[in-house]
Amino acid sequence: MSAGPDARAEYLAALGIDVWVRRGGAAPPPAAAPVPAPAPEAHPDPAPSPAPADAGAEARWHALREEVLKCTRCALHKTRIQGVFGVGPHQCDWLVIGEAPGAEEDRRGEPFVGAAGQLLDAMLKAIGLDRHSNVYIANVLKSRPPGNRDPKPEEVAACLPYLNRQVELLQPKIMLAVGRIAAQNLLGTEEPLGRLRGRVHRFGATPLVVTYHPAYLLRTPADKRKAWEDLKFARSVYQQLVQGSPADGHRA
Ligand code: URA
Repeated sequence: MSAGPDARAEYLAALGIDVWVRRGGAAPPPAAAPVPAPAPEAHPDPAPSPAPADAGAEARWHALREEVLKCTRCALHKTRIQGVFGVGPHQCDWLVIGEAPGAEEDRRGEPFVGAAGQLLDAMLKAIGLDRHSNVYIANVLKSRPPGNRDPKPEEVAACLPYLNRQVELLQPKIMLAVGRIAAQNLLGTEEPLGRLRGRVHRFGATPLVVTYHPAYLLRTPADKRKAWEDLKFARSVYQQLVQGSPADGHRA
């Protein structure tokens, strides 16, 4: 199914990217636009419907969640309201990883439910993903750092085994790391985000693509176009993976 100009405009508008539409015709790139508007998109249809749940796997998910909610491995358990485990179907191809819960996530027990979460949902929707049907969302840290400070290395070390187990259970085909902190911690690097974008990395055996954190994009809307390029790149990597041709690791 391909999206008409209306659907494309709706996706890009949801991301906060201006689209210029000539009345009664196609949209020419605005003369002053620094970056041409993205080409019309085929409607994203990146993931098949989830398969029926396996009772053993569901029990393991449940046990892991309980463990996270009771976790006292680092000092963050003393200041958090609750652990924030993850959200999404237990059988899906996409795993999105952020940094750590913020205040709203700590209150509600679900990742990315504040302002940044609304933008993340719009970004994911633009490539056909929805936390209720075909993408799982979690964080590197399951507990909120006070004042939203950056995670400490010992907190990441204590919490990463939970993410490893989530990855083992989910077996995603592709991961998307949002933001520098998630990307650097997942990849064990200090390379800046700008140098990590546009390439296929690995988290264990799982291909991983990097983009900006939605909270950063709310502060720096001019970079939303670059995030859109990242999302299209991630989608094309996924499509290559499911179609069986190897992704060469770089943006075409
Ligand atoms: N920022 C994150 O990295 N994760 C959340 O869950 C919310 C905000």
